[in-house]
Amino acid sequence: MDTAHEVKAPVTVLEWVGGSADGTLRLLDQTLLPERTQYVDCRNVETLWDAIRRLVVRGAPAIGVAAGYGMVLAGQQAADLPALMADLDRAASYLESSRPTAVNLSWAVRRVLDKARAAAAGPTQGVDGLRRLLLDEAHAIHAEDQALCLAIGRYAEPLVRRCAGVLTHCNAGALATAGIGTATAGLYLAHAAGHRFCVYCDETRPLLQGSRLTAWELMQAGIDAVVITDSMAAHVLRQGRVQMVITGADRIAANGDAANKIGTYSLALAARAHNVPFYVAAPYSTFDLSIADGSEIPIEERGGEEITHGFGRATAPAGVKTYCPAFDVTPANLITAIITDRGVIQPVGEREVRGVIG
Ligand code: MRU
Repeated sequence: MDTAHEVKAPVTVLEWVGGSADGTLRLLDQTLLPERTQYVDCRNVETLWDAIRRLVVRGAPAIGVAAGYGMVLAGQQAADLPALMADLDRAASYLESSRPTAVNLSWAVRRVLDKARAAAAGPTQGVDGLRRLLLDEAHAIHAEDQALCLAIGRYAEPLVRRCAGVLTHCNAGALATAGIGTATAGLYLAHAAGHRFCVYCDETRPLLQGSRLTAWELMQAGIDAVVITDSMAAHVLRQGRVQMVITGADRIAANGDAANKIGTYSLALAARAHNVPFYVAAPYSTFDLSIADGSEIPIEERGGEEITHGFGRATAPAGVKTYCPAFDVTPANLITAIITDRGVIQPVGEREVRGVIG
């Protein structure tokens, strides 16, 4: 029986409110979870830039969907077509600068920009017509992301059904997408189909997306979630508590090297050492086939206070030096398979990546 229709995201992550000329982008403030469910309204590109930077909205696909709507915000001020196109050009580069690693961000803004350029070069439709078109394209990206999550889930579900325990890192769940997540999609579908299993959620230092977000959303769905600190993962693997590891990705190079939240690489190494399959789940929009391998992926560095003052109190001596890369790259040879909306890439190598993604 297909139970996919019963699976819904536990909360609305983002939504457009209003029309193309005066609407706003409403974002769930993920910095406040799990304590509070509160929304912020973005009325201009600057507010959205700040929200992306501060991780109010985060996770590669959700950032992409939000940035698509950001282009609609960027088009609300101009009085004529040339001014509107200039605003869009500026907004695209500006939004791209908010977070460098997740390629879904530039994928989405470029998609909306290309649509606008093509329309502006065609029969005259005026600023109002172009604004409507921007919103249509942003809505299309939003709806497509929901479908991509479901497609990934259909490929991942049979793998989850074989497991009594699954380990995941960071949040590649509903909160990171417009749908039921990437790494979590197969978990939701397997659970809805009656399979019972336990999900170990790496806490994910320093900002705790695993415990604050993944454990929270899995519990909303009634899935058995267990929070561990990142440093416990190797022990959990050696104990045989999990039969697969699955994570998301922020950018995947042509050879299958995959960037994801810092700590993913060490998890993949530990999984290999214990012969546990390590899967990456991601939509086609997370692939960057313009780069040969992971060495070309830009890695975001964040402020050291995320390490020294996480959640309100000093946990390191005042004035200490820090190094805070937000992502790392897992080499393709540690990845058992990449589960995409277009099929499963296995083994992971350039020929196979191009064969599935194009
Ligand atoms: O810094 P974040 O919270 O945006 O990092 C998110 C991740 O690393 C996710 O695993 C990735 O974006 C995939 S989300 C489906």
